[in-house]
Amino acid sequence: MSNSVFDDTLLGNAPEFKSVIRSAQIVAATDVTVLILGESGTGKELLAKALHRASARREGPFVAINCAALPENLVESELFGHRKGAFTGAHDHHQGRIRAAEGGTLFLDEIGELPLAIQAKLLRFLESGECQAVGEQSPHKIDVRIITATNRDLYTLVREGRFREDLYYRLNVVPLELPPLRQRRGDISLLLKILTTELATQHGLQPPRFTSKAQTRLESHRWPGNIRELRNFCERMVILHHDQQVDVNDLPMDILDPRGETPEESAPFALPEEGISLDELEREMIRQALDRTHGNRSRAARLLGLTRDTLLYRIKKYTLG
Ligand SMILES: Nc1ncnc2c1ncn2[C@@H]1O[C@H](COP(=O)(O)OP(=O)(O)OP(=O)(O)O)[C@@H](O)[C@H]1O
Ligand SMILES: [Mg+2]
Repeated sequence: MSNSVFDDTLLGNAPEFKSVIRSAQIVAATDVTVLILGESGTGKELLAKALHRASARREGPFVAINCAALPENLVESELFGHRKGAFTGAHDHHQGRIRAAEGGTLFLDEIGELPLAIQAKLLRFLESGECQAVGEQSPHKIDVRIITATNRDLYTLVREGRFREDLYYRLNVVPLELPPLRQRRGDISLLLKILTTELATQHGLQPPRFTSKAQTRLESHRWPGNIRELRNFCERMVILHHDQQVDVNDLPMDILDPRGETPEESAPFALPEEGISLDELEREMIRQALDRTHGNRSRAARLLGLTRDTLLYRIKKYTLG
């Protein structure tokens, strides 16, 4: 049962993807807190829903909250609820989203955007299991499973003081990181086929057929919007080219645009036909970094992505000091 929930909704066979799904299947059966990481459009919400549907809580509610979409002054009452008259504008009781998820799963999306003051309250709830509505005297025990997601590097937010470290550790019990599409290129043709077929059926049309050249081009696209971008692309192709062959020239500009290409293809440094001397290039880059930082070796090292010690060693090697 739990296996099919994942297989039916989360398409893909790439090993990088499959290993995340395997971990997800294991944690779905438990009540453990899950943190889903991944770029925009990689399927974080889809995975959160699959975790719920594969869990013992599947008959209970799945309540999703986008922390980035809540106005700061309303987050607390939205999450924890409020009593009538607790503040100006609180005309009625509001049970809050945490209580609405009783017996089920609470999905806190874009958790990195949660205001600091509310982070403290969320931590208290996670530790006590008790939810206190605004204006209420006594807290209530609530039974929910928490899943959070973010496309931000949460630990960077911790270092910048924008995310509580204790909450970070409390949420990060089991992290599941969905790979970007460009790291699972082997799945692109499969997704292309299944998504165009599914979308064509929805529109009552025949799916388009991609030439192998078009397919190769699609496989080398960067897909910054990941599966969401691929899905939208498939829908566009179904509408414009149903029951037709799609060649490279039929692909939209944003796919053909080299800015959308992989870093390998539009690398900032292109190896010239006649080759180069890597030593000379390195020496030149170090010289430029030292110039730009007016000889500040720590900053020059940062510009080059080296430790200061490594830079010092190389300066000596190239006798640039
Ligand atoms: N593995 C997958 N198989 C099939 N469809 C997928 C897969 N992953 C994502 N999708 C589809 O891609 C779209 C984006 O997925 P989703 O909303 O879950 O992404 P997200 O990671 O939450 O993105 P964001 O960070 O922008 O909120 C949805 O239409 C979803 O159904
Ligand atoms: Mg999402």
